[in-house]
Amino acid sequence: MSHRVEIALEPLGQTLKVERGTPLRDVLFSYGVEFPCGGQGRCRGCRVRLLGGSAPVTPEQEAILSPDELREGWRLACQLTAEGPLALQVAQWETAILTDHSSFSFTPREGRGIAVDLGTTTVVAQLLDLQSGRVLGVRTALNPQARYGADVMSRIQFALASGGHGKLVDLIRSKIGSLIQRLVSSTDSEETEVRSVVVVGNTVMHHFLGGFDVEPLSHWPFETTAGGAHELPASELGWKLRGDPRVRLLPCLGGFVGSDILAGVLATEIHESDSLVALVDLGTNGEIAIGRRERILCASTAAGPAFEGGGISMGMQATTGAITAVRIEEGGLRCRVQGEVPARGICGSGLVDAVAAGLDLGVIEPSGRFSQPSSRFEISPGVSLTQRDVRQLQLAKGATAAGIRILLKRWNAGPDDLSRVHLAGAFGNYVDPASARRLGLIDFPDEAVEPAGNTALLGAKLALFADETEAGGLAEICARIRHVPLAADPEFQEIFVESMAFPARGGSGGAASR
Ligand code: FES
Repeated sequence: MSHRVEIALEPLGQTLKVERGTPLRDVLFSYGVEFPCGGQGRCRGCRVRLLGGSAPVTPEQEAILSPDELREGWRLACQLTAEGPLALQVAQWETAILTDHSSFSFTPREGRGIAVDLGTTTVVAQLLDLQSGRVLGVRTALNPQARYGADVMSRIQFALASGGHGKLVDLIRSKIGSLIQRLVSSTDSEETEVRSVVVVGNTVMHHFLGGFDVEPLSHWPFETTAGGAHELPASELGWKLRGDPRVRLLPCLGGFVGSDILAGVLATEIHESDSLVALVDLGTNGEIAIGRRERILCASTAAGPAFEGGGISMGMQATTGAITAVRIEEGGLRCRVQGEVPARGICGSGLVDAVAAGLDLGVIEPSGRFSQPSSRFEISPGVSLTQRDVRQLQLAKGATAAGIRILLKRWNAGPDDLSRVHLAGAFGNYVDPASARRLGLIDFPDEAVEPAGNTALLGAKLALFADETEAGGLAEICARIRHVPLAADPEFQEIFVESMAFPARGGSGGAASR
């Protein structure tokens, strides 16, 4: 019997040959199948449709897929191995990855540098000429760890299982290594040496890349001793670069406030501002910084992954088939779907829009309850929200709004005192501010709110030119930033509960008030 079996993927029209017994999770991730719960058989996010061959129905699948779905051939890819030839219907990744091409001021240096934004979902690397500040090349990829869970907590869980940590460390090191290799070989950098590599990311990604223990991040108080700055030769990460340049992992700011927020502070120049400025980054975790020149306060909120569609019954990344926007038209809902396909789920921006529309239509009450005793709020044929989904979004928005309020209180300030509010990352770029305002998630003056793009990547580039030791250098800026552990704040619980309600129609926010 042959040791290799063929898997045909539709509608991609591709056929793979894999070793018999290979877990489908190991091969399908690169072809668009998501594994949101890390393969624990809990989320349905990894559904594929069996078009040919045989794939057994296990008790785990029976527990989560309906008899109709099973009859139609739906299976959970995370529960299957390739035991014989298969034909599967999968969706293709088509996801927008934010890069950065903003201009910035810098002091020229010799050689080339590489800035890396290591996200939970995506990775971006840019090669720069340090003399001219010109971007010579950019490479993006999905974070390959995502097949073991969409959010940082599922990755930590996987890492704590036997062999999991090493696997996640190897995956991310080799993915960034290959992006760097492709960058260098696509330009004349073979001739000009890469002098420095700077990597920024959230606390968990920082730990995986450095090979540090993530166990302390799995429980309260979520603090580790490995969150500081690290500098090591590229070869130690398995990256082969001429001259073996140093790789700098910028320091995390505390708890779940990663070096991506430090980079965001650099990019938005909060540390140079005379007036109060906020940076809000809502990804798989919510991170906030509010401050000005002399002092910056930062915090992470246990917002959970709802803003990225995580933990939502039909939630998914903003890939093919995701509802990305929802509007009310003639009393009904009109959806925008990524790619030319029927909707198969909803991503974070679509979710925020859908709940905002539900509030305006009176389907959802300010308490978050459905106004009619129905179990689902249909957004589009085949895609709907449950009462629990709305609750998940309320928890995320409540935690975020409470975090903003507490930091503002520490400043003895209110939303109107902010001269600028930078909304960073995918949230800031893709979520409609009007819908975010309708939910009471943001309540700042319109003119102060600015989508800030990929501030983590821009900050990583700036750090390529920054000196660690000089005045105004990174170490000195870090000394001005203070982490505020929200859970330890005596008012947090009360403010959090208060912030969960949605504003009544025509009401004003409720997110952040003095
Ligand atoms: S059910 Fe398969 S990844 Fe969640």
